[in-house]
Amino acid sequence: MEGPFSRSPVLDPINITVVGGAGIVGREFLKILDERQLPVGRLRLLATSRSAGKQVEFRGNTITIEETTEGSFDGKDDIVFLSASGSASKLYAPIAAEKGALVIDDSSAFRMDETVPLVIPEINAADLAWHQGIISQPNCTTTPMALALFPIHQVNPLKRIVVATYQAVAGAGAAAIEGLKTETAAALEGRHEPSGTQKKEIAFNAVPQVDDFSDDGYTKEELKMANETRKIFHAPELAISATCVRIPAMFGHSAAIWAEFERPIDPRAARTLIDQTEAVTVIDDPEHERYPTPLDAAGNDQVFVGRIRQDLSNPGGLTLWAVTDSIRKGAATNVAQLIEECDSRGLIKRKG
Ligand SMILES: NC(=O)c1ccc[n+]([C@@H]2O[C@H](COP(=O)([O-])OP(=O)(O)OC[C@H]3O[C@@H](n4cnc5c(N)ncnc54)[C@H](OP(=O)(O)O)[C@@H]3O)[C@@H](O)[C@H]2O)c1
Repeated sequence: MEGPFSRSPVLDPINITVVGGAGIVGREFLKILDERQLPVGRLRLLATSRSAGKQVEFRGNTITIEETTEGSFDGKDDIVFLSASGSASKLYAPIAAEKGALVIDDSSAFRMDETVPLVIPEINAADLAWHQGIISQPNCTTTPMALALFPIHQVNPLKRIVVATYQAVAGAGAAAIEGLKTETAAALEGRHEPSGTQKKEIAFNAVPQVDDFSDDGYTKEELKMANETRKIFHAPELAISATCVRIPAMFGHSAAIWAEFERPIDPRAARTLIDQTEAVTVIDDPEHERYPTPLDAAGNDQVFVGRIRQDLSNPGGLTLWAVTDSIRKGAATNVAQLIEECDSRGLIKRKG
């Protein structure tokens, strides 16, 4: 496991192809490349025929989005960022890796593959060393929970987590944002017109189903949180039960977390540990009614944590609230950090 994480600058240009470059995460990724001043050589944006031909400005250049095919990968990419869908990742990741690119995948396709590191740089950057061409990044609900709990886990290992999420529609892509807008407009006029972008109508509602159900009654999103956290923490025995709920927030995933550690932990000591993590900002001042909300997290790279208190149902346990923007630290920012981290470790082979 890694200690405190600090950013490593990328000095030489990197050739990057984004599959899903027209999507909400793909577009945010371009903003983040600029914000973090990553030097980019060739940049290609791929999507489906729906977006092919659309133009995007990047650093004074106009990039035309192309349709993705199996022939899209020409051996000149240093990084291929797959930010499209699980099925697209399964199809294109092996091809891009075979052509010599380091593939970073944002879907769930390879996260639990034993040959693929699943990495939050602040936690387990060392796992990048054993990649075989593909690196996965976690689900956008896993990352904030993991970052909030990791500093305590390092000194007092976790035994059990119970978590309930309150997830924004942006986590389901650009179409889901439009879906919330149109459903809300209709509902305000007294009409119930589900957009089909969530499992149920989402405007003025809460839907306890994110992704499909598995046989045990949990949704795949809930199993992702459990399995991914165990893999990232190298803690295969860690007990986790999640309930994932979609709410009509636009941006910012929230989670109410109940955590039990090997030894009881004082909430003040926990607050101090959590606050020391660079990627986490604690906003926790009940006296002045200060705590983070999804609106605070929107557009921000930090994980915000508040409501840190003793679990009254389990003395020694801890209850807290964590919020982050799923598009940024939940997706695009983590990918930019992975690129920086891989480069500092000499894992990106420049094609020139
Ligand atoms: N949204 C989040 O908060 C979040 C967080 C973490 C991870 N992710 C993951 O990131 C990926 C992208 O999510 P998103 O939210 O950005 O979705 P999105 O807004 O719906 O965008 C998806 C993009 O992928 C493209 N695409 C879809 N299927 C494709 C295919 N078969 N081949 C090539 N391109 C394809 C789409 O092309 P068109 O433009 O042509 O339709 C679009 O550009 C997904 O795997 C998602 O699970 C999302």
